[in-house]
Amino acid sequence: LRARDIENIGHGPLYRRLQTALKAVIDDGILKIDDALPSERDLANELGISRVTVRNAMRALVEEGVLVQRHGAGTFVAPRVEQALSRLTSFTEDMITRGMNPGAIWIEKTLGHASPEEAMALNLSPGTEVTRLRRLRTANDKPMALEYAVVPRAFLPSPDDVEKSLYDALAKYGKKPERALQRLRAELFDGETAKILGVPDGSAALYIERRSFLADGTPVEFTRSYYRGDSYDFIAEMQVDA
Ligand code: GLP
Repeated sequence: LRARDIENIGHGPLYRRLQTALKAVIDDGILKIDDALPSERDLANELGISRVTVRNAMRALVEEGVLVQRHGAGTFVAPRVEQALSRLTSFTEDMITRGMNPGAIWIEKTLGHASPEEAMALNLSPGTEVTRLRRLRTANDKPMALEYAVVPRAFLPSPDDVEKSLYDALAKYGKKPERALQRLRAELFDGETAKILGVPDGSAALYIERRSFLADGTPVEFTRSYYRGDSYDFIAEMQVDA
């Protein structure tokens, strides 16, 4: 990183430009997870800018979830989220377990009629009423995933029943899923989705489709999500056949 790189990047106050420049260094993999950043003083000296500017840029990146500050040790590139594949949990639970603050930005919260694909996934006849929930999921305000959930209206009478957590809302009606089938595949973010998630166009995405069921096997949820490929690891424990 050189002073010149920062002057030429983006616009606005210098600390914002430094923030963008540092983020690019991390996105490009030059600084990797758990790598330490130089101290405020070293970075300020190296770039010939004030320590306050460096401090503001780093603070903004901590708020974005890109960096973490460890007491007495310094500032590091934030770890990825590790997610076990064998436990059925909600996004809200996952983030709380990790000490992060789950959030959502609503894009759509409506009633509609099941498309043929949704009807098939939920075992409904096409046209059955469904609740549609599309939201950007955040952890400590950092965008993590774009999620589109479809739930039969029979289990979730009004989209407004969901304030924060879908699974909490379903639990209120005694319809919390007990089993799920999940499919993961690699995709690339298209322009629009990339923009919403704040990642470069064409960067790696994990497409995840979840169908979840009540104890008796009735489907309750059909969710299509795009997770940031740069922030998530899915972990599975495996055993040889007995
Ligand atoms: C994960 C799953 C979704 C599920 C969601 C529920 O993100 N991929 O299929 O709908 O958790 O999370 P919450 O209860 O926080 O809305």
